[in-house]
Amino acid sequence: MKFENNVIDLIKKRTSTRTFDTKEIEANQLQKIEAYLSEINEDAIALSGIKARFVLSSFIGTDVKEDKKIGTYGVISGVKTYIVGIVDKDEKNALEFGYLFEKIILEATDLGLQSCWLGGTFKKSDFEQNMDLTEHETIAIVSPLGYKKDKPRLMETAMRKVVGANKRKPWSELFFDKNPKTPLTEKGADEYAVPLEMVRLGPSASNKQPWRVIKDGEHFHFCLSRTKGYGAAGFDMQLNDIGIAKCHFELSAESLGLYGEWINQSPEIGPSEWSYVCTWKAEK
Ligand SMILES: Cc1cc2nc3c(=O)[nH]c(=O)nc-3n(C[C@H](O)[C@H](O)[C@H](O)COP(=O)(O)O)c2cc1C
Repeated sequence: MKFENNVIDLIKKRTSTRTFDTKEIEANQLQKIEAYLSEINEDAIALSGIKARFVLSSFIGTDVKEDKKIGTYGVISGVKTYIVGIVDKDEKNALEFGYLFEKIILEATDLGLQSCWLGGTFKKSDFEQNMDLTEHETIAIVSPLGYKKDKPRLMETAMRKVVGANKRKPWSELFFDKNPKTPLTEKGADEYAVPLEMVRLGPSASNKQPWRVIKDGEHFHFCLSRTKGYGAAGFDMQLNDIGIAKCHFELSAESLGLYGEWINQSPEIGPSEWSYVCTWKAEK
């Protein structure tokens, strides 16, 4: 499950692509991504205990003009292949789902492919019709996979502007020292400054960046600051965002030789509007 490139470079390189070249994905890249999905479906899913699976689907965009009508409401263009994230309808663990889906996105980035997390602007029924789902399954997330066109469509540029896709909140709003009132500086984060920065660079639904991390000695408590109106009914998109943060933090820490484990401490730590999610306990 190792990437060819340094994971920190991959996290910095990844951005959402919505305008694709119609060129088909090369066979060897397709094989590699298939192999990666098999590993995730066999080993990682078993480890996490969640009821989910990830498959490739190439049904959409066979006639490129159809992109506009079906699939993604015209948000994505020029692509035929999608990664499809399927979950059991009762599965509540969006944290692990997000963690695993982001690993797949980083693997795609490693292979030189572009992607875009889609949790809202895709037509579930169009995708579901073309998949072999059991009656207990539903599609939570999809991502197109392919090569980006040099020039994005105006619509993509406008979409990025609306959500401020190139911007991230400052450290002082995301990371804290011992309590949620004291901002954590990069200096204070010491060797963990880079893993935290990788959390900050992560994608999130509507770029809401709901991750909050409180460092307390060797403990890093990950909390979720929910956006009003972004409910947890159905698939919990913002808990999924914390899964992405968990993925970026763990993989970049380990690439720097910083090891630890995820524990569940449930500390009474954040303000009442945050929910505690999990803790990274660094090895001393
Ligand atoms: C869970 C999740 C769901 C998303 N859903 C959509 C979506 O439905 N449509 C879309 O165009 N972008 C979607 N995005 C992409 C975000 O808007 C994007 O990640 C964010 O604006 C930051 O931009 P970047 O990915 O280029 O860094 C989603 C991202 C995440 C993480």
